[in-house]
Amino acid sequence: MKVTVVGAGAVGASCAEYIAIKNFASEVVLLDIKEGFAEGKAMDLMQTASLNGFDTKITGVTSDYSKTADSDICVITSGIPRKPGMTREELIGINAGIVKDVSSNLVKHSPKTIIIVVSNPMDTMAYLVHKTSGLPKNRIIGMGGALDSARFKYRLAEALGAPISDVDGMVIGGHSDTGMVPLTRLASRNSVPVSKFISEARLNQVMEDTKVGGATLTKLLGTSAWYAPGAAVSALVHAIACDQKKMFPCSVMLDGEYGIKDICIGAPVILGRNGIEKIVELELNDAEKANMKESAEGVRAVNNLLEL
Ligand code: 2OP
Repeated sequence: MKVTVVGAGAVGASCAEYIAIKNFASEVVLLDIKEGFAEGKAMDLMQTASLNGFDTKITGVTSDYSKTADSDICVITSGIPRKPGMTREELIGINAGIVKDVSSNLVKHSPKTIIIVVSNPMDTMAYLVHKTSGLPKNRIIGMGGALDSARFKYRLAEALGAPISDVDGMVIGGHSDTGMVPLTRLASRNSVPVSKFISEARLNQVMEDTKVGGATLTKLLGTSAWYAPGAAVSALVHAIACDQKKMFPCSVMLDGEYGIKDICIGAPVILGRNGIEKIVELELNDAEKANMKESAEGVRAVNNLLEL
């Protein structure tokens, strides 16, 4: 199993690290445009191998896509991250050109690859890859919902005073401060709806804190977060590589599911060796449907800024 991660910044390097630590991939190639940077990160990570007990070989390359040839999975983290006060949508101008270029180079050398898009605005970048790469739709996955759901579970656990392992919950919709749809109705503590334990007002607070999860960290860190994004990507890569058939909310091209067509947006999917093996359609209530519709309109408005 060969995995390429493009962009050796904080998210890309965390992603490579978590993949290596799980020890399921034979090789991870880290690629960056900054001379020597990916090589340095790869060497540093390889020097953790004996300490962390993994055999995955991590190599770093500067812009040499030939070294990524025949990758089973490619992760695109390239582009600029947001700065405090910026929305993900504001990154579209610079990141669209980068993501288009990176995905075409990846597909040239790995025509059978599955691509995971992390660069922001993520739903629109996943859509761009759909429109320009020629890959089938099951092989293009946007990473947002897995991260947003992890942040949701963190906030739920905090509100419940419970360990995170007791909590389950999912966020669908767009990966943006206004577009996320945390499914509070379905969130549970050991199968018991969380509304049995916390008030509606507290649950609304959890929902709001989840939606601005990335922005809160950007304000604290001065740039966007990397540990949870890296861990979320590695969970998706693991599910695909090991054909786990796990369900994650991912940004996926919809064709009528949830009443939405021709955009990539977060919905639950089953991930296995073929990438997206199934889109799961949940029975949403009227409020959730309205939130999903509004989220889709927001994503479509950003997509309309693309020059395709
Ligand atoms: C975040 O929410 C990177 O968009 C990502 O942290």
